Amino acid sequence: PTAVDRAIDTFRRGDPVCIHDADDREGETDIIYPATAVTPNAVSRLRNDAGGLICVAVDGEVADAFGLPFLQDVLDHPAAGDHDLTYDDRSSFSLPVNHRKTDTGITDEDRSLTIRELATAADTPEETAFASSFRTPGHVHILRGATNLLADRRGHTELGLTLAHAADQSPAVVVCEMLDDETGKAVAPEDAATYAEAQGIPFIEGAQLVERFV
Ligand code: 5RP
Ligand code: ZN
Ligand code: CA
Repeated sequence: PTAVDRAIDTFRRGDPVCIHDADDREGETDIIYPATAVTPNAVSRLRNDAGGLICVAVDGEVADAFGLPFLQDVLDHPAAGDHDLTYDDRSSFSLPVNHRKTDTGITDEDRSLTIRELATAADTPEETAFASSFRTPGHVHILRGATNLLADRRGHTELGLTLAHAADQSPAVVVCEMLDDETGKAVAPEDAATYAEAQGIPFIEGAQLVERFV
């Protein structure tokens, strides 16, 4: 099996993978889980071992069914005016949400509940009354996948969702950037690969998924 095959099998079992996007993009490695498999322990691992922002990416059509826009398109504030990211055409951020059954929303238990409920909702988007189940603002950032995934955009949003489709998982994945505790910068890909190896987590490059699926 190739590294991509191993990553798909791992995802199918509900276990995480590490994906480095590209040196000429963010140059970040995210720990990525199928959202359906995110327990409180998984949230704990993401904030302790990864340390970035914990987000849930969903397919664009799921976001449409939920009425979830790109955040930048609906914010009526001058700070939302210009698309001037250095590494891509646009950010995939949509609304930050909490499930209505959460309390503060930030605890491992609350975030894992919000995340797993998003996975369930993403499985049957047409049957989901989104606003009855979730509120915004909240502590889990939703990301909107590009319509044609990797053919349109090559962020962790689309890399993770591509893996979810290949593994027959719900089109909802949790992504979180790995940050270096010493430097505060993105973890170097070699160090991310060392972490992944030690944890038994597959480490793949975005280019490997692009080669396989585009
Ligand atoms: C949200 C982000 C991350 O980089 C995440 O990986 C999603 O973004 P992208 O699809 O642009 O890689 O900034 O914390
Ligand atoms: Zn990213
Ligand atoms: Ca990032």
